[in-house]
Amino acid sequence: MIPPGFIQDLLSRVDIVEVVGRHVELKKAGINHKGLCPFHGEKSPSFIVSPTRQTYHCFGCGVHGNAIGFLMEHTGAGFVEAVEDLAQQVGMQVPEDERSPAERERAKEQKARQATLTELLERAASHYRTQLKKSPRAIDYLKGRGLTGQIAAQFALGYSPEGWRTLASAFPSYDDPLLEESGMVIKGEEDKRYDRFRDRIMFPIRNVQGETIGFGGRVLDKGEPKYLNSPETPVFSKGRELYGLFEARAGLRQRGYALVVEGYMDVVALAQSGFGNAVATLGTACTAEHVQKLFRFTESVVFSFDGDAAGRRAAGRALEAALPHATDVRTVKFLFLPPEHDPDSYVREFGAEAFERYVAEAVPLSRQLVETAAEGCDLGSAEGRARLLANARPLWSALPAGLLKRQVLGDLARRAQLPEQELMGLWQLGSKPSAAATSAAAPEGFYPDDGPEPPPPDEAGGARPLRAKKEWKKDWKPSGDWKQRRREPVDETYGTPRRQPAGPADHALRMLLLHSAWWERLGAEDHQLLHELPAPHGELIAWLERHLVNHGAGAWVVIEAALIEDGLLEQAQRVSGGLRPEDEPAFEDLQEVLRKLWLAELKAQSERLAARNPQGEELEQFKRLLEQIRQLNTAGSPAL
Ligand code: UTP
Ligand code: MN
Repeated sequence: MIPPGFIQDLLSRVDIVEVVGRHVELKKAGINHKGLCPFHGEKSPSFIVSPTRQTYHCFGCGVHGNAIGFLMEHTGAGFVEAVEDLAQQVGMQVPEDERSPAERERAKEQKARQATLTELLERAASHYRTQLKKSPRAIDYLKGRGLTGQIAAQFALGYSPEGWRTLASAFPSYDDPLLEESGMVIKGEEDKRYDRFRDRIMFPIRNVQGETIGFGGRVLDKGEPKYLNSPETPVFSKGRELYGLFEARAGLRQRGYALVVEGYMDVVALAQSGFGNAVATLGTACTAEHVQKLFRFTESVVFSFDGDAAGRRAAGRALEAALPHATDVRTVKFLFLPPEHDPDSYVREFGAEAFERYVAEAVPLSRQLVETAAEGCDLGSAEGRARLLANARPLWSALPAGLLKRQVLGDLARRAQLPEQELMGLWQLGSKPSAAATSAAAPEGFYPDDGPEPPPPDEAGGARPLRAKKEWKKDWKPSGDWKQRRREPVDETYGTPRRQPAGPADHALRMLLLHSAWWERLGAEDHQLLHELPAPHGELIAWLERHLVNHGAGAWVVIEAALIEDGLLEQAQRVSGGLRPEDEPAFEDLQEVLRKLWLAELKAQSERLAARNPQGEELEQFKRLLEQIRQLNTAGSPAL
């Protein structure tokens, strides 16, 4: 949109020291300038601004970039906004926006719609608060869980009354499509609309700006599901948001660490007991993006897990999410509660002091890494020790370069009864002959005088996602028909050879790369279908999901940068029939394309079955397939 030449001119005229200096107090340190990093809480300065490189870099949290990036990160400005701001400061005129007026209009509309959604959600929250005051039963429930009115008010807790359309009293029009888009109203059969949340304690979820972006709702008595959450919407992404972070900002500063727990009630109950520093993931695994977000507010994170098998699995995922961010100035710890307890029940039964002592004994990340790798390995045998090292290597590689990484290598070598130098040689030299060995052998030399140096490629590569494709399929519940799938060679139904019009698989890939947030809006079966697309589509989908697990959904520029980094952009461009951000497909377009993919898939399944002259159970299955195909056909355009 803005010509690259202009950006270069602009960057050559602004002085980053001056730009950053307006927001951060900087002191001269050699040829650089130094200050307290504005992106994470710290007490001694590790934020360096280099006038020669015109960049900033934080050795604590790893942020870096140029003047434009700084303004974007620090002030939350968009790219164009930051460029305009800088241009004005140096008296340059930004060339005319080359986007078409329609595109500009759409971008503006999208921003406005997000604001409308958060306003609408805030209005719903206030309705639920009012309803709570009127419901002795809901108030008794909260009291029964040990909460005071003050804490309930702090977290803006509310109550969604019984009844199908109680939100109608809070909004001028119950048919407003925004109510549906915000996730508050569900459109059922025959377009019947009804409240998503009925007879539940309501926990508003806020973003770090304090805007309401969604809800969690708990049943008062027994019932399924125990917690109902808002769906993914343009303002709410579970892989990115943490419950209680907005409310915890003061607590984080006061306690000096963040306590990551699993449930809404844990956050609120801990705040009630004086731990205002607790936040919770929203019924999903902890992602690298969650961790990164937390480290903007604190240097120390303690993950708390229930003491059961599920807790240990969750700890494994949190470990993976935390590793890339575990720099030397940060601490990450793991807390395992006794079986049968969560933080809420623990602090209620044993009190705040006991909980505090428990936190003090949390396991440091280095030990957790070694123990995770050693799980199930018989260290008395050479085979077991080799397995320990095989398990540990990807974890260790994900750590950023530094003393901690060096230390962990030593720990692992001791556990595996291998001389440290030998293990270092193996791991450093194995993937990359010369450069990596020097960087690890001389950690002191890692911080150059004149600003930052990029980490050695080995480490950068190691920080990539760790979860194998197979592992996350565990969470899926594919229908029985999955077993029928076979990988078919590419044909024109799925993908296209170059220069032919793009097929549905091409379109699906293109839309999902451009609008990565849509991935979450698809169901598990759609995910599976997309994963099983023949190469290269399926591979790129797998890449996208890994990216989403680790970084959450992002704008196209972010996805594009990650594709470039992984050397996949060209392939993605080719396979998807061209990725142009100015294309503005609607979610319905994606659904239509998926319908076509399902049709192709079910037809292929039915043909395979038909060829076997099906009898009995197989015949029934065949009939079901035909019925599904018929339904899919009628769901689509009459042309089909
Ligand atoms: P738990 O089942 O451990 O409940 O779910 P809890 O937090 O201890 O809740 P209380 O104490 O019984 O009220 C932990 C978290 O998992 C998500 C919610 O985010 C919940 O806080 N969850 C759980 C759901 O999203 N849906 C469910 O049905 C259950
Ligand atoms: Mn609980």
